[in-house]
Amino acid sequence: MNSFTFYSPTKVIFGAGTADRAGEAVRAAGGSYVLVLYGGGSAVRSGVLGRVTDSLERAGLRWASVGGVQPNPRLALAQQIADEWRDKGIDFLLAVGGGSVLDTMKAVSMSLACGGPVWDFFSGAREVTAAVPMGSVITIAAAGSETSDSAVLTNEALGTKRGKNTDFNRPRFAIMDPELTYTLPPRQTACGVTDIMMHTLERYFSDCEGDYLTDAIAEALLRDVMDAGLLAMREPESYAARSEIMWCGSLSHNDLTGLGHPKDFSVHQLGHELSAMFDVPHGESLSMMWGAWARFVCAQNPARFAGLGRKVLAVTERDDEAAAQLTISGFEAYWQRLGMPVSLGQGIGVQSEETLRRLAEGCSRQGSRKVGVFRPIDTADMLAIYQAANR
Ligand code: NZQ
Ligand code: ZN
Repeated sequence: MNSFTFYSPTKVIFGAGTADRAGEAVRAAGGSYVLVLYGGGSAVRSGVLGRVTDSLERAGLRWASVGGVQPNPRLALAQQIADEWRDKGIDFLLAVGGGSVLDTMKAVSMSLACGGPVWDFFSGAREVTAAVPMGSVITIAAAGSETSDSAVLTNEALGTKRGKNTDFNRPRFAIMDPELTYTLPPRQTACGVTDIMMHTLERYFSDCEGDYLTDAIAEALLRDVMDAGLLAMREPESYAARSEIMWCGSLSHNDLTGLGHPKDFSVHQLGHELSAMFDVPHGESLSMMWGAWARFVCAQNPARFAGLGRKVLAVTERDDEAAAQLTISGFEAYWQRLGMPVSLGQGIGVQSEETLRRLAEGCSRQGSRKVGVFRPIDTADMLAIYQAANR
């Protein structure tokens, strides 16, 4: 087993009805004046926003709320919220929603606590040195932002989507009530399951020989979320399915499934370029790219792909090279069962060579970086992967 540091300080409050405990959770975390953030309206329609603010009232807390966060959350709104609420005495931020609301909250927290423009922290111009304490009531199981150290924001003026990783991004608590996800449209359920799988796969395909327990946890999580994903698509109000998916979502991205080795995350980087240019849902940006990436890097270690396929997809082929190919097509077949696109053509349409070049240049930041560790990829590799996905 390799050396590692594991830090996952977020208190998890899990189960049916837990949304009504938001007030007590904020109070226990020391908050007194709470800014509640939410998205485009699903939290209002489902009634969860009202339940949460009622519980803040019962706990005797002052609160205000701001909605309107969009999927692939935008810098402009985060900056506007930070500017509006600076120096107003807010001492706790609470997200009611998905990764987009959580990441907006994290961006606002950086700017309120450290001062200065939000984008400075995402561009790398400044380091995050403090945070306003944060919590969440999640309404979709997907991004894992509720326990992750990550925040991802789109700068619409620059046409780029960037992440910022820091332990200051880790919320104090996550309220995880699986019943809140019953109202998800099938497309969002499918995107969430895909993202959860991808957070696990992007850690599994790394420089990671000999981390047997970590591998076994990742394999079990993949089997579990795939089964539960199919059940949730058939039965949206299956508590069994929704609760499994929700817990997989957090464990897939709090680093448990990748202890002891670096994350690869090439597919996320390739996908972020698609989301920045075409505003596609995050999960779809990943399912469109994973197969093309996997076929490109597979020769690096076919046995790793083959072993995963045997453990997760019941691949019986004994030859590693052939089994690796079956593993890749097996995951793609699963995403198609969920209705997810597995090529650019199925998602955003077949693109011109010029567009693919712009995507590759964006992903490598004009040739200034490689991404990934399983097989680091440069601009030419990225272009080859976008070309392979362009069908
Ligand atoms: O805006 P509303 O009306 O709330 O609708 C949302 C949104 O349209 C809807 N939704 C959420 N809960 C619902 C619901 N609809 C009905 N019933 C409910 N219970 O779902 C749509 C998607 O919401 P969003 O928050 O965008 O989803 P997700 O959690 O997938 O977040 C995606 C964002 O997170 C980033 C992605 O890049 C993307 O920007 N990520 C964040 C990460 C992190 N911070 O650790 C890691 C991930 O890899 C990812 O990059
Ligand atoms: Zn993701």
